[in-house]
Amino acid sequence: MGKVFAVGVGPGDPELLTRKAERVIREAAVIVAPSAGGDDASYALSIVQQFLDPKRQEIVVHTFPMTRDQEVLNPLRLQAAREIAGHAAAGRDVAFITIGDPLLYSTFQPIFRILGEEFPHIAVEFVPGISSISAAASAASLPLALADESVAILPATTDEAKILKTLMEFDTVVLLKISRAFDRVYEMLLRLKLDDKAVFVRRVGSADEEVIFDMRSLVGKKLDYLSLLIVKK
Ligand SMILES: C[S@@+](CC[C@H](N)C(=O)[O-])C[C@H]1O[C@@H](n2cnc3c(N)ncnc32)[C@H](O)[C@@H]1O
Repeated sequence: MGKVFAVGVGPGDPELLTRKAERVIREAAVIVAPSAGGDDASYALSIVQQFLDPKRQEIVVHTFPMTRDQEVLNPLRLQAAREIAGHAAAGRDVAFITIGDPLLYSTFQPIFRILGEEFPHIAVEFVPGISSISAAASAASLPLALADESVAILPATTDEAKILKTLMEFDTVVLLKISRAFDRVYEMLLRLKLDDKAVFVRRVGSADEEVIFDMRSLVGKKLDYLSLLIVKK
């Protein structure tokens, strides 16, 4: 019986993979990479490309479109889980690679649930990765928390009342998936007089990394999905 590894590949720089992640990826017979389709089809895969050997390893990309429609996503998740289970049953180790850490808003989590329900005999091991949050804090030289400060993480796509409440209650707030929600969040920052307490980080760890402190310069712009905002009071 093969084993399934959910491997965090970090935010973009291949040097930010752990040694364990690199070893597991090099040794796995099958690499499964999620993609949202479009330009970022192989972002996780592009991070680990230099560790792969296509002559020896099977590399499979599964597309999970950027939608919240569970009727669209569930059959795709089921198909991926069954394929992964098929490889494991045939004795092949599978590495499912995810950006950042595999237990932080990762595509693997619903697949993990299906594997547990339908194939409980298949062992799954998580290999943690450096999340985009840690990498962004480093890029901005910004401590996420000191002493008794509190930190919250939430998707910027969630409802306004929840974001406002979190911004008021926590010392540091990390907003993932900020791209399409930026203008709405900027309004909230203005209202709370926090617009000069935020940093926007795009594609941290890649050649396209950007760290922007001037929030006003981002208003009305089409922003990259691989961006986040850290608000620190
Ligand atoms: C589905 S979540 C995945 C988070 C990931 N598992 C992690 O540990 O960083 C996707 C969001 O993570 C953030 N993200 C992922 N990679 C990033 C990067 N290289 N630079 C900036 N933000 C990133 C963005 O906010 C993006 O919308």
